[in-house]
Amino acid sequence: MSLERPQDQDIVIVGATGDLASRKLLPALFNLQLAALLPEKGRIVGCGRTAMTVEEFRNLAKSALEEFSRSRPSPAQWSAFAERLSYCDTASNGFEGLASRLTQSNRLIYLAIPPSAFATTVQAIGSAGLVDGTRMIIEKPFGHDLASSRELTRSVHAVFDEAQVFRIDHFLGKETVQNILVFRFGNAIFERIWNRDSIDHVQFTVAESIGIEERGAFYEETGALRDILQNHVFQVLSLLTMEAPASLHCEAVRDEKSKLFEAMRPLTPNDLVRGQYARSVIDGKTVKGYSEEDGVAADSDVETYAAVRLFIDNWRWGGVPFYLRTGKRLPRRATEVTVVFRPAPIHLFSGSGSDGLKPNVLNLCIQPDETISLQFLAKAPGPEIEVQPVDMQFSYEKSFTATADEAYERLIHDAMDGDNTLFARADAVDRAWSVVEPVLRDLRPVELYRAGRWGPEAANKLIAPHLWHLR
Ligand code: BG6
Repeated sequence: MSLERPQDQDIVIVGATGDLASRKLLPALFNLQLAALLPEKGRIVGCGRTAMTVEEFRNLAKSALEEFSRSRPSPAQWSAFAERLSYCDTASNGFEGLASRLTQSNRLIYLAIPPSAFATTVQAIGSAGLVDGTRMIIEKPFGHDLASSRELTRSVHAVFDEAQVFRIDHFLGKETVQNILVFRFGNAIFERIWNRDSIDHVQFTVAESIGIEERGAFYEETGALRDILQNHVFQVLSLLTMEAPASLHCEAVRDEKSKLFEAMRPLTPNDLVRGQYARSVIDGKTVKGYSEEDGVAADSDVETYAAVRLFIDNWRWGGVPFYLRTGKRLPRRATEVTVVFRPAPIHLFSGSGSDGLKPNVLNLCIQPDETISLQFLAKAPGPEIEVQPVDMQFSYEKSFTATADEAYERLIHDAMDGDNTLFARADAVDRAWSVVEPVLRDLRPVELYRAGRWGPEAANKLIAPHLWHLR
């Protein structure tokens, strides 16, 4: 991200009264303002289908900042931010009403609305004459399956060029995810062993301890496979496994990611385990099962946990299994990549205890611990040669004093700058759907797991003879 103010432009949030706007977008814009990274001139216009005065919208924004912003507004900071805010009720005024509230010839429009409303909204924005000078951010999920994603791409491309479209995947805005490229391509030692010759298998876990919270209706239509695995997990995986781009130019990076998606082997039903959390007691408190949550059907077969075994059919990765999993109501929040290397060809040493003779493991902890650690064997002190696994660790917190920006701040700033390196391109999204399409058509029933446990038993069988690193 360049540390400059983007060119003058208005910022429009469609869906401004929703949850995403309050939790993420308004706080991100406020923090960009504090860092002097909002355009010099330009409004922030909230659009929604609720009738609301500008004053009411400002009050909503103020509460959002007080509750969710990483820095709370002082009175002066708030009034500078509030001055930019305006509101358009699109139910009564349509997007023509929005046009009259804009002050600049360029704008960033953020569609923070349900996917079912994308196509008609894009069309309405086009009919209101707001195509030239617009960049548009679309929130995931980009479609529900391959056919609907293609349909969505067609409707978007009927109005906007691909260069105007920014498909956001907020995992790509995380500092530790961007560091994957630096780790791989800034350090020659890792790149030499980053292939099938040295790597036995790779695990990637996105674990959340929370349940579905108040998002029952959304989750019933989505499930873990579509909510996290097909987008966040695949996107991060592409950075972990793609070839080195010729430059950091956005299309050079996106071309390499697309080639990687092309090489992903479509999943078969045996490659997928689906689970759903069941009622349990965690820390002495009873926690509802998914099917008892508000907005969820009592006989719901939607997965809150998904684990897959995936192969990448190219020269670098042929034959290496990638085990990917995500779940809600797991024992703790942790997003981690574990690269397990091949064992030494001959065992010269004896290990002590069950931990002895473990393979080398590289662990990239993306959140909440932001660390990278390499596990290798060392001689335990004593007269005998006995080996034990030990850790070498890099920690963001210990090495750097600066704290990372929120992913949304970085990504919104990039979009205002017209830099789409960290946004998904249509062809990559299409391919990511093609990889999961065969299992979406042939879903096996979910297996229940107790809330607070590491998912269903079938996921252990999927990864056998290996074990999940987090367990
Ligand atoms: C969102 C999903 O995209 O990512 C949520 O819809 C999930 O279900 C969230 O909780 C996780 O994001 P983060 O940044 O909190 O790990």
